[in-house]
Amino acid sequence: MTELLQANAAGIARAATLLRQGALVSFGTETVYGLGADATNDHAVARIFAAKQRPRFNPLICHYPSPDAAFADVASHALARQLAQAFWPGPLTMVLPRQPDRSVSLLASAGLDTLAVRVPAHEVALALLRQTARPVAAPSANRSGKVSPTTAQHVLDELSGHIAAVLDCGPCIVGVESTVLDVRGAQPVLLRPGGTTVEAIEAIIGPVRLNGDVTGTLRSPGMLASHYAPTLPMRLGAIDVSADEALLAFGPPLPGAGTVFRLSDDRNLTEAAAHLFSGLRQLDANAAAHGLIRIAVMPIPDRGINDRLRRAAAPRD
Ligand code: TXA
Ligand code: MG
Repeated sequence: MTELLQANAAGIARAATLLRQGALVSFGTETVYGLGADATNDHAVARIFAAKQRPRFNPLICHYPSPDAAFADVASHALARQLAQAFWPGPLTMVLPRQPDRSVSLLASAGLDTLAVRVPAHEVALALLRQTARPVAAPSANRSGKVSPTTAQHVLDELSGHIAAVLDCGPCIVGVESTVLDVRGAQPVLLRPGGTTVEAIEAIIGPVRLNGDVTGTLRSPGMLASHYAPTLPMRLGAIDVSADEALLAFGPPLPGAGTVFRLSDDRNLTEAAAHLFSGLRQLDANAAAHGLIRIAVMPIPDRGINDRLRRAAAPRD
């Protein structure tokens, strides 16, 4: 049963408690309703992908109650601070390098070295984020391929029974998603147009490059994110493992492997997704030290995980 929570002290407190327990809670922002999970909890983040039935693990936006909280998790610089000053709280998402040694799940950023952060302009959402006191990863609260919800009822229509609660924050005022801007370099790149106009951004920081200028063709933001690629080559669908291979195990590990990372002993796909990126990184790091030449990956019956693995295993250009 999905709880419908009112935007009062009791409702916000309940929503924060659920989030801290690792449950999924949808909440309204000024743009659209988000499907929130504790971004520091691998399993909670993995539940987002299961509930959305996302065909692949796109990186998610982490939500914070203040610029200071957001900038603790990423490496910021003067330009990012200037944008925050001008547009936060508000419908602007900034992509910046992840700060090492922070607790945000690797799955939240799909294994990337970057993190998308934003401070939403909605009093109830901000109160929830303050009380939760953890970064909250939240994609739009729709099933994959459906339009983004702008009322609590929209969320219930699609996700009732699949998430713990919806915090009714009223109808969303902006109604389109936040603008996503990659601000890693000196000249920011627009990854997704949205609630903050390019003109408004350029008025503050000067010219912004459009996605198409960089790639030659416009690509969808989900495709844009470069994938995490281990240093070692990967062999997918492995039903045996040789002595010079590390093993990424799904279910009981194959016999004979020296260096093993167990995604899920009982073949639980949500658990496997939760550990996927940390597993790849760990094997990669250990394998080099043990003189191993490849990562063998046992078969996993999940499109999202396989899509990510195929991309990680693809030849590098
Ligand atoms: O308004 C919004 O942004 C809403 C509300 C809930 O905040 N959220 C939202 O999230 O639209 P989602 O997951 O539906 O869209 C996130 C977008 C995707 O296009 C994704 O590719 C991009 O942000 N993104 C997230 N992290 C990224 C990263 N590290 N690098 C590049 N793009 C990233
Ligand atoms: Mg979306």
